[in-house]
This record gives sequence, C-alpha cells and structure tokens, in this order.
Amino acid sequence: MALPLQARTALVTGGGRGIGRATAVALAEAGASVAVLARSVQEVEQTVEELRATGNRAAGASGDVADAAALADALDRLTGELGTIDILVNNAGVSWPVGPTVGIDPEEFAQAVAINLVGPLRCIRHVLPGMLQAGWGRTVNVTTGAANPPGLPRAAAYSASKAGLNQLTLNLATELAGTGVAVTAVDPGPVDTAMQDYMRDQPADVIGDGVHQMFQRFHTESRLNHPTQPANLITALAAGDVTAEIVAVGSDRASALVDTAA
Ligand SMILES: NC(=O)c1ccc[n+]([C@@H]2O[C@H](COP(=O)([O-])OP(=O)(O)OC[C@H]3O[C@@H](n4cnc5c(N)ncnc54)[C@H](OP(=O)(O)O)[C@@H]3O)[C@@H](O)[C@H]2O)c1
Repeated sequence: MALPLQARTALVTGGGRGIGRATAVALAEAGASVAVLARSVQEVEQTVEELRATGNRAAGASGDVADAAALADALDRLTGELGTIDILVNNAGVSWPVGPTVGIDPEEFAQAVAINLVGPLRCIRHVLPGMLQAGWGRTVNVTTGAANPPGLPRAAAYSASKAGLNQLTLNLATELAGTGVAVTAVDPGPVDTAMQDYMRDQPADVIGDGVHQMFQRFHTESRLNHPTQPANLITALAAGDVTAEIVAVGSDRASALVDTAA
C-alpha cells in the first residue's frame, strides 16, 4: 500500500530531540524523505541515523534558525541533498528567558523572538518558492497554549513570540489560499521533553508559585503527552488539506484529523 507522504520531502527544524525528532520519524514512517536541522551536531546525527533506519532518504545539518546566513547555508545544503522541500515543520523553539517580565533582558527577549518567530519566517521564505512552483506545500508551525490569553506568567518572551507565530500562521494561510500551500499550527500540550524538564526545574521565586506548581503537577500527575502525540497530528496535517487552523493535541479536532489520516 502506498504511504501517504511517499515522494514528499520534509524539513523539521529542531529535529534533534523531543517533538521534532518524533515528528521527523513519523513523517519518515509515512514515506517522506526527511531533513532535520538543529544546533547540536550529535543530536542531528542521531536523528538522521534513526530516519535512515526506516529505509527512507534523510539528511541533517547543524544550524541556528536565528542566524540568517548560517540558516540559509544549512537549508541550501539540505535541499541540495534531498531536493525541494514540500513539507516544512517549524518546530525549533525555546521557552527562555523566564522571570518577571520587567526584569527580562530585552536582548534575550529579542533572541527568543528571533528563534521562535523570525526563524520560522526565514524557513518559510526559503521553501515557499518551490512549494508555489509545485502547486503543493504544507507548513506546520509548532505553537503552545502559552500563546493564548492570558499567556504563561513569567514567560512573556515565549508567550509573545508564539502568539506572533499563531498570527503568522493565519496571515500566511489566508494569503496563500488557492495556491495549494496550506499553513497550520499545532499546540502540543505539555510534552515529556527537555523543554518541559527545563520549565519544571525553574524555582518558584523565578517562575512564580502558580506556574512552578503547574509544571510539578504535569509530572507527578503523569499529565505529560508523549512526543509521538504531536508528531502524529503534525503528520496528519502534512498529509491532509486543512489550512488556517491552530489545532491542539487532545482536542476533538485533533482526534478527528489523526483518525482520518490513519
Ligand atoms: N515540551 C512541551 O511541553 C511543549 C509544549 C508546547 C509547545 N512546545 C513547543 O514544541 C517545540 C519543540 O519543543 P520540545 O519540547 O521538543 O523542546 P526540546 O526538547 O528542547 O527541543 C527543541 C529542539 O529545537 C532545537 N532548537 C532550539 N533552538 C534552536 C535554534 N536557535 N536553531 C535551531 N534549532 C533550535 C533544539 O536543538 P538545539 O538546542 O541543538 O539547537 C531541539 O532540537 C518548541 O517550539 C516548543 O515551544 C513544547
């Protein structure tokens, strides 16, 4: 039986670990050739090895989505190896800096925006001409519930940059309607990854009592999603026709999309 993403090529940013790695594997299992990009060389190499074990073509590059020149160079190398990107998953992201908003260093705030919001735009700009020429493309941006009002207290850079990513998703989807290029976002819920460990390790005097307790409870009450849950939803969106939607893991909409794709 033909796999739904056979003959498609995907790029997953932040594919070295966590949700990005699980997504890269899910896309490969659905038949896609997959490229991954992250800063850690070792994690990228490990993911590529896992991807190749599926029998599909895979490539990896070390690069920082916030560094325009390095990113362009890495993306050129990946497309040189695997061909035009049909599916872009903007997953690379950081949840720092944390702490009372007025105490945040504006340079660190700007760096988080550069990674979480400008990085995805740079990746979209790189792959969009090829998608438009092919008349088919999928971009899935990985967002967070922290982007929804009232935001995650003491994580203003994270909330603000991801709220921007939500709006970027909807603006682009609207502008690209009728071109064959769909743009969506996935809110993964709390997921058992290194980012979640980082948030759980923040002391109450930095992150605030309420948020500190919430991250402790996610863990002690076993409420963390497995990385394969967002990975399967992202893969369903990559294989389907939905556009201009922000879909949360665990929602009825997510279940319907994953069931339809299965
Ligand atoms: N885990 C959760 O509970 C949760 C909840 C909601 C949303 N999310 C979102 O899910 C996405 C993935 O998070 P995760 O939980 O899987 O975190 P993670 O385990 O920390 O993985 C993040 C990935 O992004 C890469 N990355 C970070 N900064 C980068 C940069 N400047 N350039 C290129 N790659 C970069 C990391 O690799 P390097 O550090 O090696 O570059 C890593 O591969 C993020 O966008 C996050 O906001 C996560």
